[in-house]
Amino acid sequence: MSTQQNTAGMWRLGGELPVNRIGFGAMRLTGRAAFGSRQDGPTAAVLRERSIAVLRRAVELGVNHIDTAAFYFSPLLSANELINRALAPYPDGLVIATKVWPGRDPSGEWWWARPEQLRGQVEENLRRLGRDHLDLVNLRVPPSRRDAPLAEHFGALAELREAGLVRHLGLSNATAAHLAEARAVAPVACVQNAFGIGAPAAERELLRACGEQGIAYVPFFAIAGAGREAGAGAAEDERVLAVARARGATPAQVRLAWTLAQGPHVLAIPGTGDPGHLAENVAAGALRLSAEELALLG
Ligand SMILES: NC(=O)c1ccc[n+]([C@@H]2O[C@H](COP(=O)([O-])OP(=O)(O)OC[C@H]3O[C@@H](n4cnc5c(N)ncnc54)[C@H](OP(=O)(O)O)[C@@H]3O)[C@@H](O)[C@H]2O)c1
Repeated sequence: MSTQQNTAGMWRLGGELPVNRIGFGAMRLTGRAAFGSRQDGPTAAVLRERSIAVLRRAVELGVNHIDTAAFYFSPLLSANELINRALAPYPDGLVIATKVWPGRDPSGEWWWARPEQLRGQVEENLRRLGRDHLDLVNLRVPPSRRDAPLAEHFGALAELREAGLVRHLGLSNATAAHLAEARAVAPVACVQNAFGIGAPAAERELLRACGEQGIAYVPFFAIAGAGREAGAGAAEDERVLAVARARGATPAQVRLAWTLAQGPHVLAIPGTGDPGHLAENVAAGALRLSAEELALLG
């Protein structure tokens, strides 16, 4: 494990699985067209080799928390299969987190699972990853269910946990009300939501509440920000640029450092298919922003 990685500290997911606070998100491994048509960038073969190299390098750099999903696939590449190809037999202590409820059929069309279909989604992850149990499964709440209950779905996952298919459960795209509802059903190890500089007050409050309850908060789009699925690349915030210049860091590193500074229970999962970006993101664990810089950034 690299000293760089160690500097961001670690967290025990679900009170037991130790993970370094800078993890890795697998959504970008299948190319820009992760949810779309054929790549127009590198061919699939080049992308496959590059993504496998990125995954192996991530583990060498001390990443031991990888976020994925069975629905991260493009016409020729699947994130779970890339992880399997790159890392199996899996090193001890590697935590792979996935998410269910959304699914995509072989043509890529989205569908949403009924509670009794969640077992099939869990098994699909097991097959593609080549594992006999999943470390962490997040119930990823559909946008249309933001104000609706989730106990039926979460209860179905809790049964899979009881059956030993899943070790820990989490929530994604969830509200404080969802968290309270889920916790009445089974323990919740993490909440994975969109978060970063400029996050709304309610999300900051949820992050804080997670910390108080010993629940990890796992932000996505911490680098991409408002670019969301389209990624980073929009004009960068002047304040981020100013801090980056002053610290000799990149804007992505400043965004990650700010996010990690929000609490010891915050676990970053920056997504990249670029080896240079991977190295930068891991190195961001060593960047400690001052109180003034944190306040300036929001
Ligand atoms: N639960 C959910 O609903 C949900 C939703 C979205 C994502 N996720 C998970 O969260 C992870 C993180 O989200 P994300 O990948 O969308 O966004 P992100 O980590 O905030 O940013 C990724 C984007 O920034 C670029 N990037 C990464 N590192 C960079 C660097 N050092 N410098 C410049 N650009 C950099 C990436 O492009 P390059 O590939 O070119 O580096 C990509 O476009 C995903 O991979 C996925 O596992 C979960």
